[in-house]
Amino acid sequence: MFHSKITGVGHYVPEKIVTNKDLEKIMDTTDEWIQERTGIKERRFHPVEEGSTAKMAVKAANIAMERAGVKPEEIDAIVFATLSSDYYFPGSGVLAQAMLNMGTIPAIDIRAQCSGFIYALSVADQFIKSGMYKKILLMASETQSIALDLTTRGRGMGVLFGDGAGAVVLEAHNEEGKGILSTHLHSDGNFAEVLRIKSPGSGRATTFYPGIEENYEEIHPQMDGQLVFKNAVTRMPEVVIEALNHNNLTVADIDMLLPHQANYRISQMVQRLLKLPDEKIYNNIERFGNTTAATIPILMSELWEQGRIKEGQLFALTAFGSGFTWASALIRW
Ligand code: UT7
Repeated sequence: MFHSKITGVGHYVPEKIVTNKDLEKIMDTTDEWIQERTGIKERRFHPVEEGSTAKMAVKAANIAMERAGVKPEEIDAIVFATLSSDYYFPGSGVLAQAMLNMGTIPAIDIRAQCSGFIYALSVADQFIKSGMYKKILLMASETQSIALDLTTRGRGMGVLFGDGAGAVVLEAHNEEGKGILSTHLHSDGNFAEVLRIKSPGSGRATTFYPGIEENYEEIHPQMDGQLVFKNAVTRMPEVVIEALNHNNLTVADIDMLLPHQANYRISQMVQRLLKLPDEKIYNNIERFGNTTAATIPILMSELWEQGRIKEGQLFALTAFGSGFTWASALIRW
């Protein structure tokens, strides 16, 4: 049986930096509130006129392929994770595929929100393990800024999110105990209403008439923040322990934890519950906010650039978000 391993990682974030002070000018909020409650200092917003979720993903993908030493024509399939696709349909995967001139290879879109990258990694890993594909390009990209209400009414969500993209190349290999050791996916749709955007959605009269006042709650993200927080701090460590148990490993074996970046306080609680020292967790929420599916590959790409990913190290990934969905993965580099 084949195994899969990550051979290249890349990321792209828009140049436009939006600081908490910038948000203070357009809504009733403060830098102090945002930093204290979330750890966020600034985020990146992608100017609408400059493109799209797929375009950002392609920039990250080109870096990942270059680092992997893989040419676009060698890729067998695309797996694309996003909750902010360019169109209602088709998904951003095919748009990226065309931009990358990747012929007629399949492009699979994954909709698992903040857990999207780990879900995508799991899907790609199964394709490689089964022998169906040898080289897969995973992209995770988000343009959150266009859906946010950046007025006082939307401040509960508006200050949290940012735009960006990450990508990895996953390749088949046959070295036991290396690469993606396992992935663990969960969801509970009973909590679907707790964090969502309703429109555009099928069977809704409002689907094709966004933007009018009476549809406010349909077209802007809605969240019960405290309920999401409580579930995140339980599920994220729980699913890491599940992955460790599955591989007969312990927390002490982890060299680096990459937690989804929704709130610095969530990361701190996950770290505390797992009893991990500071040097074994990597956070970047202060610079990018929550970039949903793109978060984990951006974290990974930054560490790659800093030369902080060493052969033999054990990385644990964990995410929680809308759905609810939550997931973990263990990677031996
Ligand atoms: O990636 C998807 C997963 N998402 C998450 O994991 C998010 C999880 N939840 C959270 O991170 C936190 O619940 C938030 C950061 C969203 C909110 O923090 P909180 O400590 O739960 O605050 P809160 O919602 O209870 O709001 C406290 C106060 C409220 O005012 P009152 O009712 O106490 O007078 C809010 O109206 O803070 C107010 N508030 C703000 N004030 C200034 C809410 N948003 C803002 C804001 N600036 N941006």
